[in-house]
Amino acid sequence: MKFFIDTANMEEIREAHALGIIAGVTTNPSLVAKEKGISFHDRLKEICELVNGSVSGEVIALDAEGMIREGRELAAIHSNITVKLPMTPDGLKAVSVLSKEGIKTNVTLIFSANQALMAARAGATYVSPFIGRLDDIGTNGLDLISTIAEIFAIHGIESEIIAASIRHPQHVTDAALRGAHIATCPYKVITQLFNHPLTAAGIDAFLADWSTRTEK
Ligand code: E4P
Repeated sequence: MKFFIDTANMEEIREAHALGIIAGVTTNPSLVAKEKGISFHDRLKEICELVNGSVSGEVIALDAEGMIREGRELAAIHSNITVKLPMTPDGLKAVSVLSKEGIKTNVTLIFSANQALMAARAGATYVSPFIGRLDDIGTNGLDLISTIAEIFAIHGIESEIIAASIRHPQHVTDAALRGAHIATCPYKVITQLFNHPLTAAGIDAFLADWSTRTEK
C-alpha cells in the first residue's frame, strides 16, 4: 500500500515529502479553503512541482459539462494532476469523457461497493471510499475496503482503491490488510505512525549508555 497525504498545506506536504514515503497528494474544497489567500491553481502547481506522483484537485461544478470544463483546466496545470469528481451521475459522465482523453480521475465520496464498481467502469483511475465518515455513522468503513478490493480482484478491475477519511494509525494498518492500494492520510496521522513507546525508550537507553562510554 502506498501513502498519499491529504492536505493542501505546503508545509505539511514538504515535511511529509522529505520522509520519502509520499507517492501522491489529495486535496478537497474543504482542505483548500483552510489555506487562506492562495490561488487554487497556483497551489496545485506548487504541489505538483514538489511531489512526483498523483495530485488530486477537485472540481466544484455539479453538472457534467461544468465538471468536464473544470477537469480539463485542472489537467492543463501539470501532468501530475488527477481530477477529483464526486460520485454522482454527472460525476460519472465527466469521468467517462475525461478518462477517454487520457486525464486521470479520482471518484470521491464513495460509501458503497456499487458506487466503487460504477466509478471503475466509468474509467476512474482511483476510487476513494471514505472510511472515517462511515465509522462516524456506525458502519464499519474498513469492511467496505475489503468488499471493493474483492470485487476488483474477481473482475480484474485496475482502478486503484484510495482509503480516504483516515482518522488514526489503526485505519492505516487495517486499510493495508484489507487491500487498499493507497491510504491518503492527514499530516497528523502520518506523524502518529512514527510513535511507539519502545522506539522512544530505546533511543533514550542508547543515549544514556553512550553518555557513559569511555574512549582511549
Ligand atoms: C479524500 O480524498 C478526502 O479529501 C478526505 O480523506 C476526507 O476526509 P475527512 O472525512 O476527514 O474530511
